[in-house]
Amino acid sequence: MIIAIDGPAASGKGTVARRLAEHLNHAYLDTGSLYRAVALSVLRAGADPSDAAIASAHARDLDPNLTEDPDLRSAATGAAASKVAAVGSVRSTLLAFQRNFAVTPPNTRPGAILDGRDIGTVVCPDADRKIFVIADRKIRAERRFKELLGRGEAAIYARVLDDLQERDARDSSRVDAPMRQAEDAMLLDTSHLDPDQAFECALAFVTSGTT
Ligand code: DC
Repeated sequence: MIIAIDGPAASGKGTVARRLAEHLNHAYLDTGSLYRAVALSVLRAGADPSDAAIASAHARDLDPNLTEDPDLRSAATGAAASKVAAVGSVRSTLLAFQRNFAVTPPNTRPGAILDGRDIGTVVCPDADRKIFVIADRKIRAERRFKELLGRGEAAIYARVLDDLQERDARDSSRVDAPMRQAEDAMLLDTSHLDPDQAFECALAFVTSGTT
């Protein structure tokens, strides 16, 4: 079974995806971490993440260890990830790995759950279940703000809100694989749900019609 979970930053899609994967014993791939790793590689080289030639070279030669790097979750890496993700050749370089993960999940797991922006529309358009997770932008900014503070990063709420707005706009307006809800995806609004409630809604949808 392939489950595609998409949605904007801090919508709660990662928590839902991780919890579903644990519950169903499925393999889990956070595809944002791939774009973040490319971004981190570009930033560490002191280069511009919007430079298409540079970003694609870093995607081609990506060091997989970067997906575990402590700087992966920083605000700077997130903003740069959204820029490298707008480069078509970066996306095509990462596409095969994502599709392969979905079709042949590691450790012979019975299924795969991928979360990102274009999983239900481009990476796995034939996924068995698709969920598009959203939440009010101010609520998402509050979540991200608390997460950054929790990680010891100096954060200002208004700045986090602006960054999210900019990232949403860039992720949904790019030409190549823009973030959007697939026609056959369930819409899950987590604005007023806690993580347990969001997980229960997703699980009910995923298991509906299965035995
Ligand atoms: O989910 P995230 O915040 O870790 O993602 C970081 C950036 O990567 C996001 O702003 C857009 C990009 N991304 C993408 O374009 N497609 C995906 N499938 C996953 C992430």
